[in-house]
Amino acid sequence: MRAIVMREFGGPDVLRLEDAPEPAPRPGHALVDVTLAGVNYADVHVRGDTYLAPVDLPYIPGNEVVGTTGDGRRVVGLTRGGGYAQRALLHRRVTWDVPDALTDAQAVALALQGNSAWHLLFSVLRLTEGETVVVPAAAGGVGSLAVQLAARAGAKVIALAGSPAKRRLALDLGAHAAVDSTAEDLTERILDAAGGPVPAALEMTGGATFARTLAALAPRGRLAVYGFAGGELASVPTRDLMERSLTVSGFWLPQLYADRTALPTSMRALFDAVADGSLTPLTGTTYPLGEAARAHRDLAARTPTGKLALDVTR
Ligand SMILES: NC(=O)c1ccc[n+]([C@@H]2O[C@H](COP(=O)([O-])OP(=O)(O)OC[C@H]3O[C@@H](n4cnc5c(N)ncnc54)[C@H](OP(=O)(O)O)[C@@H]3O)[C@@H](O)[C@H]2O)c1
Repeated sequence: MRAIVMREFGGPDVLRLEDAPEPAPRPGHALVDVTLAGVNYADVHVRGDTYLAPVDLPYIPGNEVVGTTGDGRRVVGLTRGGGYAQRALLHRRVTWDVPDALTDAQAVALALQGNSAWHLLFSVLRLTEGETVVVPAAAGGVGSLAVQLAARAGAKVIALAGSPAKRRLALDLGAHAAVDSTAEDLTERILDAAGGPVPAALEMTGGATFARTLAALAPRGRLAVYGFAGGELASVPTRDLMERSLTVSGFWLPQLYADRTALPTSMRALFDAVADGSLTPLTGTTYPLGEAARAHRDLAARTPTGKLALDVTR
């Protein structure tokens, strides 16, 4: 089968199209003919060997696909690698039938990024109606869904994004205000936009952005950490946590894969929201499988909006 195989860690050029062996069958798993493979920021970390879970080489990246099972079901599912390929093995606990109302491109936007956005807001931050929440990379995969889900739940969203076009998009998606994520005075800008310190924030950049976002929290505020796209992990200033009674929580989606209710609950809520028109996955560029390197280059350059995917049939 055709697959993107990494034989070393490094820049986008380590992603090469090869003829690779089919995945061996495993109990509890279904073999899927892949149509679209989702591209996620996690794949950039895997390629550079900075991911939370180290991988062994040679390695086929990609943690989510949409495709068809041998018995003709159209499914979307999460994997632990192996996604950038014509065929992938999906464990039945993290595989869902795609409702007819959704396209493949919409479904693949929901599996990793949609479930992450949902659990960050509603399981980790426990966001409630009327609260203000900061959402970073608000025009990106997780962010564009988080803006919509939070606004739909009656929260006031302060979106962070790195360009004027992305900030306009975040406002169109339902954000109350949009702030330049790269600003050195990010804390003051969040406070201005929100009208004061905020009760809840998402954080996925790390380094100075973590510190600037934490500084915008109100006493008893909550912050959920789920990434370090800037490449620098942040340290948690425990004195600040005590002084202001702050809560900093971590989140990594694979910790939910074995949970029997968490992902089925969020996946159902996401499918229903798309079907009833109250959530619109922002589908970004779809690249041919052989152009995975270009997708990674674009993602690291911060230019894309919405969900990036690889068309495995091209
Ligand atoms: N913990 C988990 O389970 C989990 C699950 C899914 C995603 N994530 C994390 O969530 C974040 C978003 O993931 P995604 O797949 O949805 O990607 P994405 O948001 O579509 O793309 C990444 C965005 O991050 C922002 N960014 C900030 N600093 C950056 C930098 N130094 N280099 C590149 N981008 C930077 C950029 O937006 P601006 O230019 O607008 O700032 C960029 O567009 C990533 O950090 C990812 O690792 C974590």
